[in-house]
Amino acid sequence: MESSYDTSWFDRHSASSFMRLMPRLRARFKDIPEADWQAYTMRLERHFPRLFRLLHRLYSSHYDFFYHLENLLTTATEMWIQRSDELKALDAIRENDPNWYQSHSLIGYILYVDLFAGNLGSVRARIPYLKELGVTYLHLMPLFKSPAGDNDGGYAISSYREVDEELGTMAQLAELAGDLRNHNISLCLDFVFNHTSDEHEWAKKALAGDRDCQEYYRMYDDRTIPDQYEKTVKSVFPDEHPGCFTYRNRIKKWVWTTFKNYQWDLNYENPAVFNRMAEELMFLGNQGVEILRLDAVAFLWKKLGTTCENLPEAHLLIQAFNAVVRIVAPAMVFKSEAIVHPDEVARYISEDECQVSYNPLLMALLWSSLASRDAKFLRHCLQKRFALPQGCAWANYVRCHDDIGWTFSDDDAREIHIDPTAHRKFLIEFYTGRHAASFASGLPFQENPTTGDARISGSCASLAGLERALQENNPAAIELAIRRILLLYGVIFTIGGVPLIYAGDEIAVLNDHSYEKDPEKDGDTRWVHRAVFNWEKAELRTQPDTPEGRVFAGLLKLARVRQNNFAFTRSETEIIDTGNEHVLGYFRQHQEQNVLVLANFAESEQPIAATRLRQLGLRRTFTDIIAGKNVTAAATLLMEPCQFMVLVGARG
Ligand code: GLC
Repeated sequence: MESSYDTSWFDRHSASSFMRLMPRLRARFKDIPEADWQAYTMRLERHFPRLFRLLHRLYSSHYDFFYHLENLLTTATEMWIQRSDELKALDAIRENDPNWYQSHSLIGYILYVDLFAGNLGSVRARIPYLKELGVTYLHLMPLFKSPAGDNDGGYAISSYREVDEELGTMAQLAELAGDLRNHNISLCLDFVFNHTSDEHEWAKKALAGDRDCQEYYRMYDDRTIPDQYEKTVKSVFPDEHPGCFTYRNRIKKWVWTTFKNYQWDLNYENPAVFNRMAEELMFLGNQGVEILRLDAVAFLWKKLGTTCENLPEAHLLIQAFNAVVRIVAPAMVFKSEAIVHPDEVARYISEDECQVSYNPLLMALLWSSLASRDAKFLRHCLQKRFALPQGCAWANYVRCHDDIGWTFSDDDAREIHIDPTAHRKFLIEFYTGRHAASFASGLPFQENPTTGDARISGSCASLAGLERALQENNPAAIELAIRRILLLYGVIFTIGGVPLIYAGDEIAVLNDHSYEKDPEKDGDTRWVHRAVFNWEKAELRTQPDTPEGRVFAGLLKLARVRQNNFAFTRSETEIIDTGNEHVLGYFRQHQEQNVLVLANFAESEQPIAATRLRQLGLRRTFTDIIAGKNVTAAATLLMEPCQFMVLVGARG
């Protein structure tokens, strides 16, 4: 696509547009002191050509392209003016250290404000708990105004400028962001920009017949066009409604609703929508958000005859938002939430698009490896796909608020003689506890009885076997379950990227079935792992003989290992063949230090040949900084069941 554009024409066109717009902008904001204006316009000048090129590709067919462009720059400038001095200072710091999110100091934590603490004020009171765990990045799940009752866990937003009144106010959110910053914790919030709720002001106006607002969404008078789209678009929540349209009889129109029927997809073909959403985005940046989680990026653009997922225009849109942020709020970076085929996940990741991305492949394959007690598939995929472009980072996770989808590449599986369909079937049976070798207590999510396809819900501890082991009162099984949890967390803390702890995992929270009694939640099994945080259970974290205490202490150790070793900062990961298919191995190499990480996915002892280790450059004796022991590998290094090791003493 890129090559069909004549760059020199663009440069000229962009430069002349800039020259035309700048005096008008200056005239509008004539009160800004010259020195401040200069600093701002330097950034504007730097990023304008990119922004111009992207918007031109998206919207140049609109006769009023320049009108929208000027509007966008005016809003951007207003937003920059409103930005606090403190955040502007942070902008300057981050411009000097633009890849700050690659640092080993980052440890993330994900929580729902109401479930964790009740409201924003109480989250503030819990900062010491987060500090205790070493958290430096906090993702607050959607906390905006949204419809009462079912609202997809807050992912149906009625106003990006108002916090749900039960949780607090926007002023409290900004205050909390400031407090967190003072504690060296960066705030992460969602930007749910594929859709709004049907109670958003724009949707309400659209329902009342306002044509302009109807243009903000994708609406059709009859089924002709929806039927054509549905030939190629797949249903994301098939349990919820078939296809991807919902009929609203008040306006007698079919509205595009990829997710739930009250989540209306925005129409980004309309440049006004881009501008309005850019404004909402900058508003969030001005509240002190440092990592913006871009929700459901795959669905932003639609085109007849395609799956309407991951279209090139979706990337252009995000890149254009990225350029806006570089101008107005460079302290903020994007994290993409693309839970799609790994080839597509990778396409969202670059410094000009999303600097950080969830790593759904690592997540799914960690669970896959635990089930098969074998790291071969994981190693194969990581060797192919773990490396990222310069300046980017993975957000690695074991669990999050969503289900686990088996989004690996079928080709990757076939390359190592794994039948992808049979393997997915195995994983579904395994994690729903239907397989004979299973230790897991998971639930199916969006199960399709025709194809047998399903995703999995369940808490980390329940999926890792702790629930069953405790029910059976089986100490050996409890031991293994705890080791599995720490093995998975061990990998995400050390493999490269930002590790994210899902609230409750650190105290081995089990599945909570109480949602089944709530008619608003029943049927959406994801609520089984969205429990009210149990602070009494959290008290047990100091008792070393409890699962809570063991998992908590294990995570603390991982946090210390990560934050105190150079090998985990801005360093390269080299995935290696350990010579034992049950054991995943990788080097983390930094100029100051190298470590070799080993993770045994089997429930039996596993040997690594000492000759293999020496071939990899290890000395005869090295230190495992997880166990705090020196290890001498004469003939073999014997790993315990599900053991996780970080070996110092590797080649330089
Ligand atoms: C994302 C969220 C998920 C939500 C969906 C629709 O995938 O993680 O929870 O249902 O977007 O907003």
